[in-house]
Amino acid sequence: MDGFAQEATGAGGDGFGTLEDGFITLDGLEKVFQVRRRAGLLRRERHEVRAVDGISFQVARGEMVGYIGPNGAGKSTTIKMLTGILTPSGGSLRVAGIDPSRERTRLAHRIGVVFGQRTTLWWDLPLRDSYRLMHRMYRIPDGRYRENLDRCVELLDLGELLEVPVRQLSLGQRMRGDIAAALLHDPEVLYLDEPTIGLDVISKAKVRQFLKELNVERGTTVLLTTHDLTDIEQLCRRVMVIDHGRLMYDGSLAGLHEVGESERMLVVDLERELPPIELKSDGSGPGLRAVKVEGPRQWLAFPASASAAPLVARIAAQYPLMDLSVREPDIEAVIARMYRAAP
Ligand SMILES: Nc1ncnc2c1ncn2[C@@H]1O[C@H](COP(=O)(O)OP(=O)(O)OP(=O)(O)O)[C@@H](O)[C@H]1O
Ligand SMILES: [Mg+2]
Repeated sequence: MDGFAQEATGAGGDGFGTLEDGFITLDGLEKVFQVRRRAGLLRRERHEVRAVDGISFQVARGEMVGYIGPNGAGKSTTIKMLTGILTPSGGSLRVAGIDPSRERTRLAHRIGVVFGQRTTLWWDLPLRDSYRLMHRMYRIPDGRYRENLDRCVELLDLGELLEVPVRQLSLGQRMRGDIAAALLHDPEVLYLDEPTIGLDVISKAKVRQFLKELNVERGTTVLLTTHDLTDIEQLCRRVMVIDHGRLMYDGSLAGLHEVGESERMLVVDLERELPPIELKSDGSGPGLRAVKVEGPRQWLAFPASASAAPLVARIAAQYPLMDLSVREPDIEAVIARMYRAAP
Protein backbone atom coordinates (compact mmCIF):
# COMPACT_ATOMS: atom_id res chain seq x y z
CA MET A 1 0.00 0.00 0.00
CA ASP A 2 1.08 3.49 -0.72
CA GLY A 3 1.67 6.30 1.63
CA PHE A 4 0.53 4.95 4.98
CA ALA A 5 2.64 5.42 8.05
CA GLN A 6 3.83 2.12 9.45
CA GLU A 7 4.41 2.74 13.06
CA ALA A 8 2.88 -0.55 14.09
CA THR A 9 4.85 -3.13 16.00
CA GLY A 10 6.60 -6.24 14.82
CA ALA A 11 5.88 -5.88 11.10
CA GLY A 12 7.47 -8.67 9.14
CA GLY A 13 9.97 -9.30 11.90
CA ASP A 14 8.25 -12.29 13.41
CA GLY A 15 9.61 -14.97 11.17
CA PHE A 16 6.65 -15.32 8.80
CA GLY A 17 8.37 -13.77 5.79
CA THR A 18 6.79 -10.91 3.91
CA LEU A 19 3.40 -10.16 5.32
CA GLU A 20 2.95 -6.87 3.57
CA ASP A 21 0.73 -8.04 0.70
CA GLY A 22 -1.14 -10.68 2.53
CA PHE A 23 -1.34 -9.27 6.02
CA ILE A 24 -4.78 -10.81 6.11
CA THR A 25 -5.10 -13.79 3.76
CA LEU A 26 -8.17 -15.93 3.16
CA ASP A 27 -7.98 -18.85 0.78
CA GLY A 28 -11.19 -20.68 -0.04
CA LEU A 29 -12.49 -19.99 3.45
CA GLU A 30 -15.67 -21.86 4.43
CA LYS A 31 -17.99 -22.02 7.39
CA VAL A 32 -20.83 -24.50 7.41
CA PHE A 33 -23.30 -24.53 10.29
CA GLN A 34 -25.32 -27.66 11.03
CA VAL A 35 -28.76 -26.59 12.09
CA ARG A 36 -31.85 -28.53 13.11
CA ARG A 37 -35.15 -27.42 11.74
CA ARG A 38 -38.62 -28.51 12.80
CA ALA A 39 -40.15 -30.71 10.12
CA GLY A 40 -43.61 -31.63 11.36
CA LEU A 41 -44.73 -32.22 14.92
CA LEU A 42 -41.95 -34.42 16.25
CA ARG A 43 -39.45 -34.71 13.49
CA ARG A 44 -36.44 -32.46 13.25
CA GLU A 45 -34.42 -32.21 10.10
CA ARG A 46 -30.73 -31.54 10.01
CA HIS A 47 -29.56 -29.22 7.36
CA GLU A 48 -26.54 -27.17 6.47
CA VAL A 49 -26.13 -23.43 6.27
CA ARG A 50 -23.14 -22.47 4.16
CA ALA A 51 -22.58 -19.10 5.82
CA VAL A 52 -19.18 -18.58 4.18
CA ASP A 53 -18.81 -20.50 0.95
CA GLY A 54 -15.27 -20.34 -0.37
CA ILE A 55 -14.02 -16.80 0.10
CA SER A 56 -10.51 -15.75 -0.94
CA PHE A 57 -8.94 -12.33 -0.59
CA GLN A 58 -5.89 -10.54 0.72
CA VAL A 59 -5.64 -7.32 2.65
CA ALA A 60 -2.34 -5.45 2.82
CA ARG A 61 -1.03 -3.86 5.97
CA GLY A 62 -2.43 -0.36 6.37
CA GLU A 63 -5.44 -0.86 4.12
CA MET A 64 -8.93 0.16 5.16
CA VAL A 65 -11.40 -2.11 3.42
CA GLY A 66 -15.19 -2.16 3.39
CA TYR A 67 -16.86 -5.56 3.73
CA ILE A 68 -20.49 -5.26 2.82
CA GLY A 69 -23.48 -7.35 1.83
CA PRO A 70 -27.13 -7.95 2.70
CA ASN A 71 -28.39 -9.49 5.95
CA GLY A 72 -27.22 -13.06 6.36
CA ALA A 73 -24.51 -12.71 3.69
CA GLY A 74 -21.80 -14.08 6.00
CA LYS A 75 -20.01 -10.90 7.07
CA SER A 76 -20.09 -11.44 10.82
CA THR A 77 -19.24 -15.11 10.39
CA THR A 78 -16.14 -14.10 8.40
CA ILE A 79 -15.10 -11.64 11.11
CA LYS A 80 -15.61 -14.24 13.83
CA MET A 81 -13.25 -16.57 11.97
CA LEU A 82 -10.76 -13.73 11.56
CA THR A 83 -10.69 -13.28 15.33
CA GLY A 84 -10.52 -17.00 16.09
CA ILE A 85 -13.94 -17.12 17.81
CA LEU A 86 -15.16 -19.53 15.13
CA THR A 87 -13.15 -22.32 13.52
CA PRO A 88 -13.40 -22.54 9.71
CA SER A 89 -14.97 -25.64 8.16
CA GLY A 90 -12.62 -25.42 5.20
CA GLY A 91 -10.01 -23.34 3.45
CA SER A 92 -7.26 -21.42 5.17
CA LEU A 93 -6.80 -18.17 6.96
CA ARG A 94 -3.86 -16.11 8.24
CA VAL A 95 -3.84 -12.83 10.09
CA ALA A 96 -0.40 -11.31 10.65
CA GLY A 97 1.00 -14.76 9.97
CA ILE A 98 -1.16 -16.35 12.66
CA ASP A 99 -3.84 -19.01 12.24
CA PRO A 100 -6.61 -17.37 14.30
CA SER A 101 -8.44 -20.42 15.60
CA ARG A 102 -5.21 -22.18 16.61
CA GLU A 103 -3.56 -19.26 18.34
CA ARG A 104 -6.43 -17.11 19.39
CA THR A 105 -4.73 -15.69 22.47
CA ARG A 106 -1.55 -14.74 20.66
CA LEU A 107 -3.61 -13.12 17.94
CA ALA A 108 -5.70 -11.23 20.50
CA HIS A 109 -2.70 -9.05 21.30
CA ARG A 110 -2.48 -7.91 17.72
CA ILE A 111 -6.10 -7.35 16.79
CA GLY A 112 -8.97 -5.24 18.07
CA VAL A 113 -12.64 -6.02 17.49
CA VAL A 114 -15.80 -3.98 17.78
CA PHE A 115 -19.14 -5.73 17.39
CA GLY A 116 -21.69 -2.93 17.15
CA GLN A 117 -24.43 -5.34 18.24
CA ARG A 118 -22.87 -6.30 21.53
CA THR A 119 -20.37 -4.83 23.92
CA THR A 120 -17.05 -6.23 25.10
CA LEU A 121 -17.22 -3.98 28.17
CA TRP A 122 -18.27 -5.02 31.65
CA TRP A 123 -21.89 -4.07 31.99
CA ASP A 124 -21.89 -3.01 35.65
CA LEU A 125 -18.50 -1.31 35.73
CA PRO A 126 -17.74 2.29 34.88
CA LEU A 127 -15.91 2.62 31.59
CA ARG A 128 -12.67 3.48 33.38
CA ASP A 129 -12.71 0.18 35.29
CA SER A 130 -13.30 -1.83 32.13
CA TYR A 131 -10.27 -0.12 30.64
CA ARG A 132 -8.19 -0.86 33.74
CA LEU A 133 -9.06 -4.54 33.43
CA MET A 134 -7.96 -4.51 29.81
CA HIS A 135 -4.76 -2.75 30.82
CA ARG A 136 -3.97 -5.75 32.98
CA MET A 137 -5.36 -8.46 30.72
CA TYR A 138 -3.29 -7.32 27.77
CA ARG A 139 -0.30 -6.34 29.95
CA ILE A 140 -0.13 -2.95 28.26
CA PRO A 141 2.89 -0.92 29.42
CA ASP A 142 1.69 1.91 31.72
CA GLY A 143 2.93 4.77 29.54
CA ARG A 144 1.41 3.31 26.41
CA TYR A 145 -1.88 2.64 28.13
CA ARG A 146 -2.17 6.19 29.43
CA GLU A 147 -1.21 7.67 26.10
CA ASN A 148 -3.75 5.56 24.19
CA LEU A 149 -6.48 6.17 26.72
CA ASP A 150 -5.91 9.93 26.67
CA ARG A 151 -5.99 9.98 22.90
CA CYS A 152 -9.23 7.97 22.73
CA VAL A 153 -10.86 10.02 25.47
CA GLU A 154 -10.06 13.19 23.61
CA LEU A 155 -10.93 12.11 20.09
CA LEU A 156 -14.00 10.07 21.01
CA ASP A 157 -15.24 12.57 23.57
CA LEU A 158 -15.30 10.14 26.48
CA GLY A 159 -14.19 12.53 29.24
CA GLU A 160 -17.61 12.88 30.86
CA LEU A 161 -18.37 9.19 30.54
CA LEU A 162 -15.43 7.48 32.20
CA GLU A 163 -17.10 7.14 35.61
CA VAL A 164 -20.47 6.03 34.21
CA PRO A 165 -21.40 2.33 34.38
CA VAL A 166 -21.66 0.87 30.90
CA ARG A 167 -25.31 -0.11 31.33
CA GLN A 168 -26.20 3.58 31.79
CA LEU A 169 -24.56 4.67 28.55
CA SER A 170 -26.59 5.42 25.44
CA LEU A 171 -25.93 3.24 22.41
CA GLY A 172 -23.75 5.87 20.77
CA GLN A 173 -21.76 6.52 23.95
CA ARG A 174 -21.26 2.80 24.52
CA MET A 175 -20.10 2.30 20.96
CA ARG A 176 -17.45 4.99 21.36
CA GLY A 177 -16.46 3.32 24.61
CA ASP A 178 -16.15 0.00 22.80
CA ILE A 179 -14.00 1.46 20.06
CA ALA A 180 -11.60 2.87 22.66
CA ALA A 181 -11.52 -0.51 24.42
CA ALA A 182 -10.53 -2.21 21.17
CA LEU A 183 -7.56 0.13 20.72
CA LEU A 184 -5.90 0.40 24.13
CA HIS A 185 -3.41 -2.36 23.34
CA ASP A 186 -2.33 -0.82 20.00
CA PRO A 187 -3.68 -3.51 17.70
CA GLU A 188 -2.27 -3.67 14.19
CA VAL A 189 -5.62 -4.83 12.81
CA LEU A 190 -9.05 -3.54 13.71
CA TYR A 191 -12.25 -5.38 12.75
CA LEU A 192 -15.36 -3.29 12.96
CA ASP A 193 -18.69 -5.07 12.62
CA GLU A 194 -21.28 -2.31 12.20
CA PRO A 195 -19.58 0.30 14.38
CA THR A 196 -22.01 3.08 13.43
CA ILE A 197 -25.23 1.14 13.91
CA GLY A 198 -27.82 3.25 15.70
CA LEU A 199 -25.57 6.31 16.00
CA ASP A 200 -26.83 9.82 15.30
CA VAL A 201 -25.32 11.89 12.52
CA ILE A 202 -22.85 13.73 14.75
CA SER A 203 -21.60 10.59 16.49
CA LYS A 204 -21.20 8.86 13.13
CA ALA A 205 -19.11 11.74 11.84
CA LYS A 206 -16.96 11.64 14.98
CA VAL A 207 -16.38 7.90 14.71
CA ARG A 208 -15.53 8.14 11.02
CA GLN A 209 -13.06 10.95 11.60
CA PHE A 210 -11.44 8.95 14.37
CA LEU A 211 -11.10 5.84 12.21
CA LYS A 212 -9.64 7.81 9.35
CA GLU A 213 -6.96 9.29 11.59
CA LEU A 214 -6.21 5.94 13.15
CA ASN A 215 -5.68 4.41 9.72
CA VAL A 216 -3.57 7.25 8.34
CA GLU A 217 -1.49 8.11 11.40
CA ARG A 218 -0.98 4.70 12.95
CA GLY A 219 -1.23 2.61 9.80
CA THR A 220 -3.80 0.38 11.47
CA THR A 221 -5.31 -2.12 9.04
CA VAL A 222 -9.10 -1.87 9.17
CA LEU A 223 -11.82 -4.23 7.96
CA LEU A 224 -15.16 -2.49 8.17
CA THR A 225 -18.60 -4.04 7.95
CA THR A 226 -21.54 -1.69 7.74
CA HIS A 227 -24.98 -1.18 6.28
CA ASP A 228 -24.34 2.56 6.14
CA LEU A 229 -22.77 3.11 2.77
CA THR A 230 -21.70 6.61 3.71
CA ASP A 231 -19.19 4.91 6.03
CA ILE A 232 -17.73 3.16 3.02
CA GLU A 233 -17.84 6.21 0.78
CA GLN A 234 -15.97 8.29 3.33
CA LEU A 235 -13.48 5.72 4.57
CA CYS A 236 -12.70 2.96 2.11
CA ARG A 237 -10.97 3.07 -1.21
CA ARG A 238 -11.54 -0.63 -1.60
CA VAL A 239 -14.76 -2.47 -1.02
CA MET A 240 -15.68 -6.14 -1.04
CA VAL A 241 -19.26 -7.20 -1.54
CA ILE A 242 -20.41 -10.62 -0.37
CA ASP A 243 -23.71 -12.39 -0.79
CA HIS A 244 -24.70 -15.94 0.17
CA GLY A 245 -21.21 -16.47 1.55
CA ARG A 246 -19.48 -15.64 -1.71
CA LEU A 247 -17.36 -12.75 -2.83
CA MET A 248 -19.29 -10.87 -5.52
CA TYR A 249 -16.99 -7.90 -5.98
CA ASP A 250 -13.58 -6.74 -4.84
CA GLY A 251 -12.36 -3.37 -6.06
CA SER A 252 -12.80 0.37 -5.91
CA LEU A 253 -16.05 2.14 -5.16
CA ALA A 254 -15.93 3.77 -8.58
CA GLY A 255 -15.61 0.34 -10.18
CA LEU A 256 -18.62 -0.85 -8.25
CA HIS A 257 -20.72 1.80 -9.96
CA GLU A 258 -19.64 0.46 -13.33
CA VAL A 259 -20.30 -3.15 -12.41
CA GLY A 260 -23.77 -2.14 -11.27
CA GLU A 261 -24.43 -0.65 -14.74
CA SER A 262 -25.80 2.28 -12.87
CA GLU A 263 -28.80 4.30 -13.70
CA ARG A 264 -29.27 7.98 -13.11
CA MET A 265 -32.45 9.42 -11.83
CA LEU A 266 -34.61 12.26 -13.12
CA VAL A 267 -36.72 13.80 -10.38
CA VAL A 268 -39.65 15.49 -12.09
CA ASP A 269 -42.28 17.82 -10.62
CA LEU A 270 -45.46 17.93 -12.70
CA GLU A 271 -48.28 20.42 -12.40
CA ARG A 272 -50.52 17.75 -10.96
CA GLU A 273 -50.59 14.12 -9.97
CA LEU A 274 -50.50 11.89 -13.04
CA PRO A 275 -49.98 8.19 -13.79
CA PRO A 276 -46.30 7.15 -13.95
CA ILE A 277 -44.48 8.57 -16.96
CA GLU A 278 -43.32 5.92 -19.40
CA LEU A 279 -41.12 6.79 -22.32
CA LYS A 280 -40.15 3.93 -24.59
CA SER A 281 -36.72 4.01 -26.06
CA ASP A 282 -36.85 5.22 -29.66
CA GLY A 283 -34.53 6.56 -32.37
CA SER A 284 -34.07 9.83 -30.50
CA GLY A 285 -32.85 8.37 -27.22
CA PRO A 286 -33.06 5.80 -24.46
CA GLY A 287 -36.09 4.77 -22.46
CA LEU A 288 -37.17 5.97 -19.07
CA ARG A 289 -38.70 3.96 -16.24
CA ALA A 290 -40.82 5.34 -13.40
CA VAL A 291 -39.40 4.17 -10.08
CA LYS A 292 -41.52 6.10 -7.61
CA VAL A 293 -44.50 8.47 -7.67
CA GLU A 294 -45.38 10.75 -4.78
CA GLY A 295 -48.20 13.13 -5.68
CA PRO A 296 -47.05 15.34 -8.56
CA ARG A 297 -43.39 14.27 -8.08
CA GLN A 298 -41.98 11.31 -9.99
CA TRP A 299 -38.60 9.55 -9.94
CA LEU A 300 -37.53 8.23 -13.34
CA ALA A 301 -34.54 6.01 -13.98
CA PHE A 302 -32.48 6.08 -17.16
CA PRO A 303 -29.10 4.58 -18.15
CA ALA A 304 -26.18 6.44 -16.54
CA SER A 305 -24.36 6.54 -19.85
CA ALA A 306 -27.20 8.38 -21.64
CA SER A 307 -27.61 12.13 -21.87
CA ALA A 308 -30.52 13.59 -19.94
CA ALA A 309 -31.20 16.45 -22.36
CA PRO A 310 -33.26 14.60 -25.02
CA LEU A 311 -35.26 12.86 -22.29
CA VAL A 312 -36.08 16.16 -20.66
CA ALA A 313 -37.16 17.57 -24.01
CA ARG A 314 -39.49 14.62 -24.63
CA ILE A 315 -41.04 14.86 -21.17
CA ALA A 316 -41.50 18.61 -21.52
CA ALA A 317 -43.25 18.10 -24.87
CA GLN A 318 -45.69 15.53 -23.51
CA TYR A 319 -46.27 16.43 -19.85
CA PRO A 320 -47.04 19.59 -17.82
CA LEU A 321 -43.52 19.96 -16.41
CA MET A 322 -42.87 22.38 -13.51
CA ASP A 323 -39.39 21.55 -12.32
CA LEU A 324 -36.76 18.87 -12.61
CA SER A 325 -33.36 17.70 -11.35
CA VAL A 326 -30.91 14.94 -12.21
CA ARG A 327 -29.46 12.73 -9.48
CA GLU A 328 -26.25 10.79 -9.83
CA PRO A 329 -26.51 7.10 -8.97
CA ASP A 330 -25.92 6.48 -5.31
CA ILE A 331 -23.94 3.53 -4.16
CA GLU A 332 -26.94 2.16 -2.32
CA ALA A 333 -28.92 1.82 -5.53
CA VAL A 334 -25.97 0.20 -7.27
CA ILE A 335 -25.55 -2.40 -4.57
CA ALA A 336 -29.27 -3.10 -4.35
CA ARG A 337 -29.23 -3.85 -8.09
CA MET A 338 -26.20 -6.06 -7.67
CA TYR A 339 -27.88 -8.09 -4.95
CA ARG A 340 -30.96 -8.51 -7.12
CA ALA A 341 -28.86 -9.68 -10.04
CA ALA A 342 -27.10 -12.31 -7.91
CA PRO A 343 -28.13 -15.94 -8.58
N1 LIG B 1 -24.16 -19.94 15.11
C1 LIG B 1 -24.89 -20.11 14.00
N2 LIG B 1 -25.61 -21.24 13.78
C2 LIG B 1 -26.31 -21.45 12.67
N3 LIG B 1 -26.39 -20.56 11.66
C3 LIG B 1 -25.70 -19.40 11.79
C4 LIG B 1 -24.92 -19.12 12.96
N4 LIG B 1 -24.34 -17.91 12.80
C5 LIG B 1 -24.75 -17.45 11.60
N5 LIG B 1 -25.55 -18.34 10.99
C6 LIG B 1 -26.16 -18.20 9.64
O1 LIG B 1 -25.12 -17.92 8.73
C7 LIG B 1 -25.54 -16.96 7.76
C8 LIG B 1 -24.61 -15.75 7.79
O2 LIG B 1 -24.78 -15.05 9.01
P1 LIG B 1 -23.93 -13.75 9.39
O3 LIG B 1 -24.27 -13.37 10.77
O4 LIG B 1 -22.50 -14.01 9.07
O5 LIG B 1 -24.51 -12.68 8.36
P2 LIG B 1 -24.18 -11.13 8.23
O6 LIG B 1 -23.69 -10.94 6.84
O7 LIG B 1 -23.32 -10.67 9.34
O8 LIG B 1 -25.64 -10.48 8.32
P3 LIG B 1 -26.15 -9.11 9.04
O9 LIG B 1 -26.00 -8.04 7.99
O10 LIG B 1 -27.59 -9.40 9.28
O11 LIG B 1 -25.36 -8.89 10.27
C9 LIG B 1 -27.00 -16.65 8.10
O12 LIG B 1 -27.81 -17.45 7.29
C10 LIG B 1 -27.12 -17.06 9.55
O13 LIG B 1 -28.43 -17.45 9.85
MG1 LIG C 1 -23.61 -9.34 10.93
